[in-house]
Amino acid sequence: MFSSRLPAHYAPNRLTEAARERRAEGRPVIDLTESNPTRAGFDYPPDLLAPLSAVSALRYAPSPLGLMETRRAVAAEYARQGLEVPAERIVLDASTSDGYSLLFKLLADAGDEVLVPRPSYPLFDHLTRLDLVVPRPYHLDLHGSWSIDFSSVERALTPRTRAVLVVSPNNPTGTFISAAEMDRLAALCAPRGIAIIADEVFADYELEPGASRRAGRAVSRRDVLSFALGGLSKSVGLPQVKLGWIAVAGPDALVEAALDRLELVCDTYLAVSTPVQAAAAELLDRGAAVRSQIAARVATNYRELMSLSPLAPSCGVLRSDGGWYAVMHVPSFEPEEDLAVRLLTTEGVLTHPGYFFDFPRESFLVFSLLPPEASFSDGVTRVLRHFASSAAPA
Ligand SMILES: Cc1ncc(COP(=O)(O)O)c(C=O)c1O
Repeated sequence: MFSSRLPAHYAPNRLTEAARERRAEGRPVIDLTESNPTRAGFDYPPDLLAPLSAVSALRYAPSPLGLMETRRAVAAEYARQGLEVPAERIVLDASTSDGYSLLFKLLADAGDEVLVPRPSYPLFDHLTRLDLVVPRPYHLDLHGSWSIDFSSVERALTPRTRAVLVVSPNNPTGTFISAAEMDRLAALCAPRGIAIIADEVFADYELEPGASRRAGRAVSRRDVLSFALGGLSKSVGLPQVKLGWIAVAGPDALVEAALDRLELVCDTYLAVSTPVQAAAAELLDRGAAVRSQIAARVATNYRELMSLSPLAPSCGVLRSDGGWYAVMHVPSFEPEEDLAVRLLTTEGVLTHPGYFFDFPRESFLVFSLLPPEASFSDGVTRVLRHFASSAAPA
C-alpha cells in the first residue's frame, strides 16, 4: 500500500531507545547531540518574533520566488559576508530541506543521481529518496583535516548524475570546501551539465580563524550552474520560523533557465508564508544578537574540547574549521553503537556515533558544540575519563 520511497521499518535505534528509557526514569542526561538552538539556553529577545504580526502580512499577494523586499534582505546577508548576489537570483523556501527538494525537482528525473559527501549530514538519504533521486557517495578523506577525494567523485559520476552536493562547512566534519576544491569540482561538473548544490547553512560559524575566507563559495561561480543554500534556521538560530533561501549562480543563460523553472515549481507549492517574508528583514537584523551568542558558544566549546582532550591520550579531537559540531576519534574497543550506549548508561552522556554520519571507519564520536558551556565541559570530561580509565574489554 505504501511508497517504496519510505523505509519499511520504524523501530528506534538502540541509542535512541536507551536515551528515552533513561529520561523516562528521570535520570540525568548530558546531551552532547543537542542541535536545536532554541533548546540550548540562548538568550532570545522575548519579542523577537513580533515582526511576524506585521499588518502588511494581512494581504496575500502570492509571489512564487518570494517577495522582492525579502529577497533583497537575503542579498544584504550575502553582502554582510562580502558576497555580491543580485536579489533577482535569490529564491525563498521554507527550509533548507525544502530547498533540496525544490532543486531535485528542478534538476532530476526519477532514478537520476546526485553525489553526496561521506561523511556528512544523515538526512541526505531521506531527502534524495523522497524525491526519487538516487544518492551516490563520494568520499572526504582524512589527512589531518578532511578534503574531497576527487578520484571517488570521478568514480561516482555516471551519465545520470545531475548534481554534486557539498556541505560547507560540513556537518559534522567542520570542513569548508576550499577555493581550489570548488574550482576542481566546477571543472568536472560544467562540461557534463552537472550542477553544484552547496549547503552553506553554517557559513557564519567559523571555528578556526581565516577558514571561511579561504572557502570556495558557490554564489561566486560564473562557469557552472550552482545553488547555495542558507536559512534562518542556522543563521539566526530560528529553525521554527521556517524560512530558507537558494542563491543561484552560473552562466547567465543557465541561471535564467533555472529561475524560470524554479518559479513554476515554487508556484505549485507556494510554501513560504507571507508573515515570515514580511518579517524576514527584521528577523535577520535582530537575530544577529542570537547569531553572535551561538558563535561565541561554539567557539568556546570547541576550544574547551581541544584543551580537555589530553585527559585521554588515546583520543584525538579533529580540527574543525566551522559549524556546530566537532569530531573525536576514539579507541575501537567495541562497536560504535555499543560505545555510545555505554557512555549513556555509565557516564550519563549522549553522543552521536560516527556511523550515523557514514564515517569511513570506526571509531568516531560527534559532539554538538551548542550545549551550555558548563554541561558541555562536564560531558566531554566524563567521556574522556571513560577512555582514560578503560582498557580493551577482555
Ligand atoms: C548541513 C545541514 N543542512 C541543513 C540543515 C537543516 O536546515 P533547515 O532547518 O533549514 O532545513 C541542517 C540541520 O541540522 C544541516 O546540518
